[in-house]
Formats: sequence, C-alpha cells, structure tokens
Amino acid sequence: MNNLVISLKDVWKTYRTGVIELTALKGIHLDIAAGEFTAIMGPSGSGKSTLMNIIGCLDQKDAGEYLLNGSDVKNMNQNDLALLRNQEIGFVFQSFNLLPKLTLLENVELPMVYAAVKRKERTERAMNALDSVGLHQWTEHRPNEVSGGQKQRAAIARAMVMKPALLMADEPTGNLDSQSSKEIMRVFQELNRMGTTIVVITHEPAIAAYASRVLQVVDGQIVSDTVHSSAAEKKQSVTEKKQSAAETKQSAG
Ligand SMILES: Nc1ncnc2c1ncn2[C@@H]1O[C@H](COP(=O)(O)OP(=O)(O)OP(=O)(O)O)[C@@H](O)[C@H]1O
Ligand SMILES: [Mg+2]
Repeated sequence: MNNLVISLKDVWKTYRTGVIELTALKGIHLDIAAGEFTAIMGPSGSGKSTLMNIIGCLDQKDAGEYLLNGSDVKNMNQNDLALLRNQEIGFVFQSFNLLPKLTLLENVELPMVYAAVKRKERTERAMNALDSVGLHQWTEHRPNEVSGGQKQRAAIARAMVMKPALLMADEPTGNLDSQSSKEIMRVFQELNRMGTTIVVITHEPAIAAYASRVLQVVDGQIVSDTVHSSAAEKKQSVTEKKQSAAETKQSAG
C-alpha cells in the first residue's frame, strides 16, 4: 500500500533516568492509511503517549523503522523535523497548551507566524479556523476567559490552521465534561470526513467509539486492533432497517 501515512516496524523505546531503565515500547508494528480515524486505548503507563510522541516526531525511537508519508524519519535533520511538525502534523493535548497571554486569535495565528505567513493572510485564516469550530465570537478572549471546551476548540483550530494531513490528539477530552467532549469529537469526525487522518489517545470507550479503528496498547505492545464500521455507517444501517421494517409493514398491510 502506498497511501500509508504512518508505518512503524518493530519500534522500541527505552527511557533512561539515572540508572533506571524503562522500556515503554516493545516492538510496535503499526500501519495507518490516509483518511483513517484511529483511537489508541490502554492502561495508564502502557506507552500510548510515548507512541504518539514518536509518531508525531516529538521524540525518537531507539530501534526499528518509522516511515512518515513514505519517508524515513531517521534521515531527517532537526530543521526537516520542525518543518514537518509545523506543516504536516497538528497536535491537540489534554491541557490545551494555549499561551495564556495571547488571545484565541493570536494563539491560532502562531503556527503561521513560525511558517512566515503574512499578517493579513494569517488573521484571515485564523478567523476562518476559529469560525469553523464555532468560536467566531471569542477571538479576542484570552484562554482563561473561556470554557474548557472552548479552549480545546481553539487548540483544534490552531492544530488545523496549517491544514496538516495528520491530526494527533493525546486525551483531548480528558479535562472536559461529557457535552464538551461530544462537541470535540464531532469536530474531529468532521475533519476526518474532510480527509484528515486522525489518531486520538483516550481512556474512554465512548470517545473511542467515534473512531473507525481502535488499538489497545498494553505494556508497550499493541494487543488488539479492531476496525469498526463508522458511526455514519451505523446510523445508515439503522435507517435502512427502519425503512425495510416500514416497507415490510406496508406490504403486509
Ligand atoms: N520522559 C520519561 N522519562 C522516563 N520514563 C518515562 C518518560 N515518559 C514516560 N515514561 C514511562 O514510560 C512508560 C509509558 O509512559 P506513557 O506516558 O507513554 O504512558 P501512557 O500510556 O501515555 O500513560 P497515561 O495513560 O497515564 O498517559 C511509563 O512507565 C512511564 O512512567
Ligand atoms: Mg499518556
């Protein structure tokens, strides 16, 4: 397959703190194709964030192979990697990671500042991104002046403003109430429908249910990999069932 966004082969990662060694990833094999919406689940400490950091090029593996969009990450220098993180990958974190002194608009503009996009275009694109997550009235507010759900929507706008092909989220709903969590997952679903490949780490089955594929990580290894029919397909099949039930009734009556 040549449309693989992520291809990991026998990836290992060990953390060394003083004399203590902890092997967090133990031979991960994982292929993710363009357009997939994958959830990563598993107990605390099982290696989920480590895996995400490696996929997102925030950290490096010790052994194995990692191809991102077909290119071997080990051949890239720090500049290539920084460019890649800026242009190709969007990140969303549990704690939002917005800069408190900047307005939501300025926060969303940041990745474009790094990419040297001109001010006028920057503002326009940031406004559009905030608009698309329902925050057009909150652009001048600072993070501490809005709700958790709104902060996370701003963080998603920031992650998406460079139009990355891959969106990675580590417990994006971990600090949110269930209503805000649903809103965030609907935003993800919409982005996925438009073609973004999404990888989301979560502890919650209700959140994982939005994904079309669920991986379970236990003790540094992927122990299960399940592909689900998408929520949209499920909805469709329910509608079809209702329809055919109605038709049966009609023909019977
Ligand atoms: N920077 C680090 N230095 C040393 N050990 C680390 C470091 N980061 C993670 N670890 C260890 O590696 C293992 C995997 O951690 P990781 O953060 O990937 O787990 P996780 O599945 O994301 O857990 P959680 O659900 O609690 O976020 C854990 O035992 C953790 O203590
Ligand atoms: Mg984690």
